[in-house]
Amino acid sequence: MPGTCVIGLQWGDEAKGKLVDLLTDHFDIVVRYQGGANAGHTVVVGDETYKLHHIPSGILNPDVINVVGPGVVLNPPTILEEIDSLLARGIKVDSDNLMLSDRLHVVLPWHLEEDRLLNQQPVDGESIGTTLRGIGPCYRDKVGRTWAVRLGDLSRPDFADKIRSIVTSKQQLFDGLSGDIQLDAAQIYEEFQQYAQRLQPFVQDTTSYLLDAVEDQQRVLFEGAQGALLDIDHGTFPFVTSSNSSGVGVAAGSGVPPRWIQRVLGVCKAYSTRVGGGPFPTEQDNPIGQTIRDLGNEYGTTTGRPRRCGWFDAVAVRYARRLSGVDGLAVMMMDVMSQLPEIQICIGYQIDGQRLDVFPSHADDLRRIQPIYETIPGWQTDVTAARKMEDLPEGAHQYLQRVSELVGCPVDVVSVGPDRAQTIFTREFAHR
Ligand code: GDP
Ligand code: IMO
Ligand code: MG
Repeated sequence: MPGTCVIGLQWGDEAKGKLVDLLTDHFDIVVRYQGGANAGHTVVVGDETYKLHHIPSGILNPDVINVVGPGVVLNPPTILEEIDSLLARGIKVDSDNLMLSDRLHVVLPWHLEEDRLLNQQPVDGESIGTTLRGIGPCYRDKVGRTWAVRLGDLSRPDFADKIRSIVTSKQQLFDGLSGDIQLDAAQIYEEFQQYAQRLQPFVQDTTSYLLDAVEDQQRVLFEGAQGALLDIDHGTFPFVTSSNSSGVGVAAGSGVPPRWIQRVLGVCKAYSTRVGGGPFPTEQDNPIGQTIRDLGNEYGTTTGRPRRCGWFDAVAVRYARRLSGVDGLAVMMMDVMSQLPEIQICIGYQIDGQRLDVFPSHADDLRRIQPIYETIPGWQTDVTAARKMEDLPEGAHQYLQRVSELVGCPVDVVSVGPDRAQTIFTREFAHR
């Protein structure tokens, strides 16, 4: 059975990009299937660092085909910049190794304006703090259909009419919301015509392509963006993204039915981070959080914002693990934990003095959580040169063992630094 998924189990930035890049040798195809330029996936190869927003992290392996599926929302200028920057660095990107679904939805200038305007309005008393990449507004228009634009539409004869008609409606909307936004249909049409011409060689029916591929037993790796706790349906709503970023989104976003998915790797940090607003039970808004931020260089790949940092939350990750059908964990950033004198791990939640057995569905309840912590002595040993489990100190083994027990799943991968080499596979990664 051909499909493996890499899914973030926290609030994004779990180092999915590093893991996908490492695994690409075992695969024929890597697929992004949800999210858009809100994602920032970092791949470090020696002295080179690549930050990918739209293009799957398989792109650094010239033998892999990279697919951006129908569930993604695509910003044409962003992907074109990404392509140009990769080409300038000698990375192969052409129509033989990159395909964009003609069904995917396009982020247009009005989506960026809507994101900026609406993000200023608090929801449930707090701003969502989006990445301002037009993600929510584009998905809203996709679901609403009337104002949706798909990639395939850009090269159709009625594209100018479509833009003109949408701009008329959107201008009325902006006039009601704010007086200072003026959309120019002719200019937007010209601009997007040019993007369409450049993107045309990459545009394909990726749904048929992937269905043929799985039926031919080709090996497909699905690269999740964001993390399960940001899932629109199952995450910490409304402080989430606008797509199904847990494991449940793979089939819908790619067009490959769940029966082809054989293995799910869940990626988590050895601690927790979150960018933007929303409840975060184990947050350390104090010198401990700052130490983690400094040690882990926890600043957003896409926006540069400082990430909120806190202890590992086993209740949340266990929920995310079950929701995503994970059968193996990748625990990243163990080098960061290895520098702390003492480590806490959240093993349970209490609310109003009562123990909670489930992950709460309402943000207000999650805000009121009192985490129950277990303290683990730090091992304070540099692990960045560890290449096999035996190289890790006893304390690190105990920590990983505890994470595995609490989350309810074996640890398959341990990461001790950003580089490809700084990775330990606890069992050989074989495509079963
Ligand atoms: P993604 O969005 O899930 O792909 O993650 P990001 O790329 O946004 O953030 C992860 C960051 O951690 C990147 O800067 C990686 O280079 C870096 N990284 C990955 N693994 C490790 C690790 O084990 N230790 C440290 N210190 N950094 C890591
Ligand atoms: P990767 O793929 C971390 C967060 C934003 C905000 C919320 C909604 O790199 O892990 P959006 O722009 O999607 O409407 O923002 O989701 N967010 C991410 N946080 N990593 C990401 O992607 C994220 N993508 C969105 O900070 O809180
Ligand atoms: Mg990221």
